[in-house]
Amino acid sequence: MTELTRDVVIIGAGAAGTTAANELKKAGLSVVVLEARDRVGGRLWTDVIDGAMLEIGGQWVSPDQDALKETIAELGLETYSRYREGDSVYVGPDGTLHRFTGEMFPVAPETEKAIAEITERLDAMVAEIDPDRPWEHPNAAEWDAITWDAWLRSQTDDDEAVRNLAFATGSAMLTKPTHAFSLLQSLLMAASAGSYSNLVDADFILDRRVVGGLQQVPILLAERLGEDVLLGHAVRTLEWSDDGVVAHADGDLRVNARYAILAHAPVLYDRISFVPALPRRQHQLHQHLSMGFVIKVHAVYDRPFWREQGLSGTAFSPYELSHEAYDNTNHGDERGTLVGFVSDQNADDLFTLSAEERKERILESLSHYYGPEAKNPIVYYESDWGSEEWTRGAYAASFDMGGLHRYGADLRTAVGPIHFACSDMAGAGYQHVDGAIRMGRFAAANVLEAARR
Ligand code: FDA
Repeated sequence: MTELTRDVVIIGAGAAGTTAANELKKAGLSVVVLEARDRVGGRLWTDVIDGAMLEIGGQWVSPDQDALKETIAELGLETYSRYREGDSVYVGPDGTLHRFTGEMFPVAPETEKAIAEITERLDAMVAEIDPDRPWEHPNAAEWDAITWDAWLRSQTDDDEAVRNLAFATGSAMLTKPTHAFSLLQSLLMAASAGSYSNLVDADFILDRRVVGGLQQVPILLAERLGEDVLLGHAVRTLEWSDDGVVAHADGDLRVNARYAILAHAPVLYDRISFVPALPRRQHQLHQHLSMGFVIKVHAVYDRPFWREQGLSGTAFSPYELSHEAYDNTNHGDERGTLVGFVSDQNADDLFTLSAEERKERILESLSHYYGPEAKNPIVYYESDWGSEEWTRGAYAASFDMGGLHRYGADLRTAVGPIHFACSDMAGAGYQHVDGAIRMGRFAAANVLEAARR
């Protein structure tokens, strides 16, 4: 058995864990990061598949994500803009393809009016929400008791307006069916990006990418920690008391520390045996969180052929299997890459099919946006985070109906020497790398504060 002693043991080498570890090390504490996988990065994973560099996990950076932007700059990484010249496309309820520019979908005037009015209403509600404390809003209980779908349907009878408004926080963000989460959860998602309008604006939310891939952020942060990052060491048991913790990990490793930071998705807390058990409140609240589910589809072509048709590559339709798709061509690459997304129940249904049938169905959907050439990529890959043992879904976790108002306030509360950090409990940057970095900093600051006391 190997035995280590540190001030802080950090469980998980994603963006949150590597950030927390660096903050603590800078402040003079000794740390070790234990990572279950054989790589650093968690939901950030840049890999080469059949000769194409793909962002299998997170990739985009938006202008409001200050914590991520600061980290990127500090690590000396370069960013580039998503390709967006030309027309976007929208497929309507009858399957007709429409080209458009700007933010409003090309829909009938009365549908456009309904979308604009409800967007204004949502922006006003979001402006009243503190993303770090949505449960404190006077209407939080009421807004957490109605589903996102039911609330939208109470605002208009226009089904196309509802579907277009719904998918911004539904299929596109929380990646759950819109009847499975509350209005409050939807408002938190929008508040985390500054406004509902920001969230639906692809040019804002999917603004820039990192040259060489976003996984470099946790990789470079881990490099600074040197031998204090140990891969292939899943933590299985955490003993804790007022005096500190003992983490027991795979590879016959035992770490004694004053504090622990659990820096992974909250749905994985029950993979660890806590001795003694966590308090009642945590037992309850952790059961009300679950991961969304989305398949990120990568299709690489010998050239970005859609640009020849004057298309930006940006495509939306709440009626399509791939509800959104973008030009995802790598910086300096002559080839063209499209990325499409298949969410929630559509993703469940696709995984009942064979790999060949899945590919055919997805490429068929992309061809409705870009034409028949989309059916013949030279590289094709589906990111399937649902089958990743140490993640179990994508993009992140959210509360079930009523859960955010009931339990949200305790999600980040430390239990004795155990602190929590993950993008899935962030306010600003919620479900994003920016939120992971913010939560890494937050947990580190709380540990430092506790250590000072
Ligand atoms: P993360 O899950 O990354 O890290 C936790 C780590 O803990 C993992 O490495 C895991 O293996 C480890 N672990 C778990 N249990 C353990 C145990 N018991 N012992 C030891 N280790 C353990 N964000 C964004 O900003 N822009 C984007 O474009 C996207 N797009 C996107 C696409 C896809 C397909 C996904 C899956 C996700 C995104 N995201 C995103 C979200 C973003 O990737 C995500 O929010 C953060 O990377 C999460 O970072 P964390 O460090 O919080 O958790």
